[in-house]
Amino acid sequence: MRILGIETSCDDTGAAVVEDGRILANIVAAQDVHLEYGGVVPELASRAHITLLPQVVLQALATANTTIDQIDGVAATIGPGLVGSLLVGIEFAKGLALARGIPWVGVNHVEAHLVSAGLEAPLETPYIGMVASGGHTEIYHVPEPGIFQRIGSTRDDAAGEAFDKIGKLLGQPYPAGPHLDKLAREGKPDAIALPRAKLKGDTLDLSMSGLKTAAKLIIEKEPRPIPDARLHDLAASVEKAIVDVLVERLDQALRRYEARAVTVAGGCACNTLLREETARLAAARGIPARFPSPKLCRDNGAMIAHAGSFALRRGETTPFSATAIANLDSFSPLPV
Ligand code: KG4
Ligand code: ZN
Repeated sequence: MRILGIETSCDDTGAAVVEDGRILANIVAAQDVHLEYGGVVPELASRAHITLLPQVVLQALATANTTIDQIDGVAATIGPGLVGSLLVGIEFAKGLALARGIPWVGVNHVEAHLVSAGLEAPLETPYIGMVASGGHTEIYHVPEPGIFQRIGSTRDDAAGEAFDKIGKLLGQPYPAGPHLDKLAREGKPDAIALPRAKLKGDTLDLSMSGLKTAAKLIIEKEPRPIPDARLHDLAASVEKAIVDVLVERLDQALRRYEARAVTVAGGCACNTLLREETARLAAARGIPARFPSPKLCRDNGAMIAHAGSFALRRGETTPFSATAIANLDSFSPLPV
């Protein structure tokens, strides 16, 4: 089954052709219109998707050496995301599907991140997966391919948001995650004491806001400019605190659920320490730790096509009346 995947939930315009879990093309156009604003401007994002998407789709088809007649189905992100941006991809997918007489399927963006490592090597079920990005930090149990049970989530900031906000206080450009990662490699992770939030009750949820406030209070008292060695120690300590919270949750999840693998996806899955600690956790249990390569950690159409293929193979399609669900979570059923 050859599927065209379309991703327009935020500020990356993505289109990919995926055949039975194999990537034939995966094109992502990053929008540069937001650079001068230091964050994504929703209205500019939807307009840029309108301009970029047709070109990106054509480029994906050409790279995959595929004509539109050879596409068996179209998958597009239906949520969560920016409503105007989502609409561009969804209406494009519906138009194409209607014109070609093929099915379209709406895909949950977070679940698509979760399965992305499966595009590079088989991801055996059952598995435990975490999606940690600038917008999401969620933990899933996946008992069988294409069945997603969310078992934990951040109660406040996403992991990437914590990296970005604390990194900004340390004078790092947006997104600060990769910069902190680099600085942290030369610092001592136990140099500065930072809290790891423990939530009350029996939960796999997590929280980053206490850590963020504690880091802010410490960083505000630092001399300016912060000496290099101290900056390295601060970055290493912040990274360790964030990663400890994430990995402790993965550990808890692995104790509760049967798992033959563990996967971490989303932008933060590029983090050096998070990869090391997750790999260590998995090794202790004798299971593989799987991370998508950096290209698949960012938003892309291939993960959307792959996630959509589970539904399409089950014969599930999305009605043409369905539309964007900006706050879609795994508990909201997709339109049928
Ligand atoms: O998945 P993504 O590209 O975009 C969305 O948020 O959807 O994730 C971006 C996030 C940013 O917060 C960025 O700081 C973080 O991923 N990130 C990292 C690293 N690379 C990207 N955080 C920590 N260490 C990294 N190496
Ligand atoms: Zn994403």
